[in-house]
Order: sequence, then structure tokens, then C-alpha cells
Amino acid sequence: MSVQNILRMGNPLLYQRATEIEDLDSQELDEIINNMLDTMKDANGVGIAAPQIGISKRIIIFGFKDNPRYPDAPPVPLTVLINPIVEVLSNEKQNGWEGCLSVPGLRGLVPRYIKIKYSGYEFNSKQNIERVVDGFHARVVQHEMDHIDGILYPHRVEDMKKFGFESEGLIINHL
Ligand code: NI
Repeated sequence: MSVQNILRMGNPLLYQRATEIEDLDSQELDEIINNMLDTMKDANGVGIAAPQIGISKRIIIFGFKDNPRYPDAPPVPLTVLINPIVEVLSNEKQNGWEGCLSVPGLRGLVPRYIKIKYSGYEFNSKQNIERVVDGFHARVVQHEMDHIDGILYPHRVEDMKKFGFESEGLIINHL
């Protein structure tokens, strides 16, 4: 188990649809998830998807409390989701600033659905879960779902003037 190299925007693997996990109880899956957790923690991420460490499988991890990269975000429980499914519950979208470990240093303003239902096999609790969430929690899940469908958040930025290096003072209001 160790911190892995994070693939960056431009790497072809990040643009592929990742494939479903069939065996939910393998040592290989265990290792992938531990590597994802170590890598996310090391990078202070609020989420990570398997393709970001070079594994084109449908595994996403998200969750945080008091994250330095998103200081104003309310906490989200640590969740390890296999073969996740997202259902949009309202067509309403909201703009919010996002970053990504695969796009280091940059932030962009991205529209996301406000309210969603997600489900999947939760690896830590070893059960299928279903949650209705909104706000930043819903945003993080949509961001990670995009990763396993080969989409990065800059692909969803509508106003390219709202995409740039955070350290240059781009963001006025954080969320
Ligand atoms: Ni990301």
C-alpha cells in the first residue's frame, strides 16, 4: 500500500470510460482501494477516482472534514463506492468552484446538479448504499462520477475566463 503517482490532464487513460468491478471481494480490489486512500490523503484531496492512479475501474472515493483545499465545505462521510450510479433529482444546476488532483493548481467554475441520488456498493461497510444529497456533497460525487466516464471538470467549464490558477487570485468566493 502506498501513495501512487497521480495521472494529469492529457493522459489518455483519464479520457476513457472505466469498466465495472465484477469481483467485490478480491485482494486486488483491496490493494487498489488502499492505494487510492493513501494517495488522496497525501494530496489532501476530497475525492479520487481509480483512473487517476492509472486503474481504469469504476471505483470512486470521497469524503472529508475540515479540508484545507475546500475550507468552507461542510463535511462529507468517507465513502468508498464501487460501480456507482447517479440519478439526477432536479434539473436545477448551480455554479461552484472545483479543483482536481489531476489538474494541479487550477480551479474552474463548473455547473452541477443541485440534488442527486447515488447508489453503489460501499466497500467499508460491505453493503449497497443509497443516499439523497445536495450542495457540495452532490458536486463532489458528480465530479468523481465524471472521472470514471472519462470527463474532467475543465470539460464542463462554460466561461473560460472562470478557469485559471488559484494562486493568481482567481477565486473570490470559495464555493
Ligand atoms: Ni478530480
